[in-house]
Amino acid sequence: MNVLVTGGAGFIGSNFVYHMLNKYPDYKIICVDCLTYAGNLSTLEEALKNPNFKFYKTDICDREAIYKIYEDEKPDVVVNFAAESHVDRSIENPEIFLKTNILGTQVMMDAARKFGNIRYHQVSTDEVYGDLPLDRPDLFFTETTPIHTSSPYSSSKAGADLLVMAYYRTYGLPVTISRCSNNYGPYHFPEKLIPLMIANALNDKPLPVYGEGLNVRDWLYVEDHCKAIDLIIHKGKIGEVYNVGGHNEMANIDIVKLICKKLNKPESLITHVTDRKGHDMRYAIDPTKIHNELGWLPETKFADGIDKTIEWYLNNKTWWETIISGEYMNYYEKMYGNR
Ligand code: NAD
Ligand code: TYD
Repeated sequence: MNVLVTGGAGFIGSNFVYHMLNKYPDYKIICVDCLTYAGNLSTLEEALKNPNFKFYKTDICDREAIYKIYEDEKPDVVVNFAAESHVDRSIENPEIFLKTNILGTQVMMDAARKFGNIRYHQVSTDEVYGDLPLDRPDLFFTETTPIHTSSPYSSSKAGADLLVMAYYRTYGLPVTISRCSNNYGPYHFPEKLIPLMIANALNDKPLPVYGEGLNVRDWLYVEDHCKAIDLIIHKGKIGEVYNVGGHNEMANIDIVKLICKKLNKPESLITHVTDRKGHDMRYAIDPTKIHNELGWLPETKFADGIDKTIEWYLNNKTWWETIISGEYMNYYEKMYGNR
């Protein structure tokens, strides 16, 4: 089978590339990534040595180039991870989010239609459901929870989801969508909460917690997300949405304190900074559907996943130190300098 993976030089996409190469030695994995600030070819160093792996440095919005790749590579399945993925950046500059996340999705699906009605999987997010109140722990996002977005990022992902379902109904494109909660694990770009706190703590830098830090996220180890997508592209029902989540809700402040403890750093590094605009309070996924239909369950407990993640960042300092010493520093100064 030929699997075309977009955004494979990013966090989840690269973990998915490695998952697929390891699990299916007879599959060909074709990766398309234009290497934005969040894409890193060094992440794919091992994959690039594998004869079953092929990399294209291409923008998913580049219709002509994308059509050529479909024509040449003849994918059986497409998995679209490529996106602008950081809420804070979307608040600063929404435009690129609309372009990549919505128009890029359209190009990928037009190509899927044109070259044989190819099975298409859209990697979406639980953020399309908006947020839940902290005082209603009984509430969870299900696949029928109305779309109700808060940020330009989540709105662009929701726009893409609507378009995916429209291509299913209008053109009969064989689509599936997964909506996953917050991932953590290796190759997570250090602008996101967990890797940012690990990197800053290791450098004895302030740990910037937005507001009180009471916002809750449902954390899932990235490998479990990859396994869910693997199941969906092989066994998921066409035209269906699957929620993916770990039943592992934690307040930001507790995560940051835990990281301090694990790294033997003082909690005095924690600095409460101005809250994010429109900050979603709580995300919580009900993963009953994917469990009942496809037998998926999260395998890595948070206690183990966070240890593995911290160990990975300790063992792969060059990977993240290179990132935080480059262009990323300008972003950091802009976002946190006067916060
Ligand atoms: P990431 O920012 O780490 O990686 C995104 C990748 O996409 C990068 O390699 C980047 O170079 C590439 N890319 C961006 N624009 C592109 C374009 N126009 N053409 C080609 N490549 C492009 O993101 P991530 O955290 O790995 O997220 C991957 C997907 O999973 C996204 O669609 C995101 O919405 C979704 N998701 C993420 C999470 C999470 O916790 N990180 C949770 C649920 C869903
Ligand atoms: P993030 O990793 O950006 O993921 P998302 O916003 O998509 O859930 O942020 C996770 C939570 O951590 C979110 O509530 C915002 C908060 N946060 C901080 O408190 N400080 C930070 O420096 C960052 C990046 C995030």
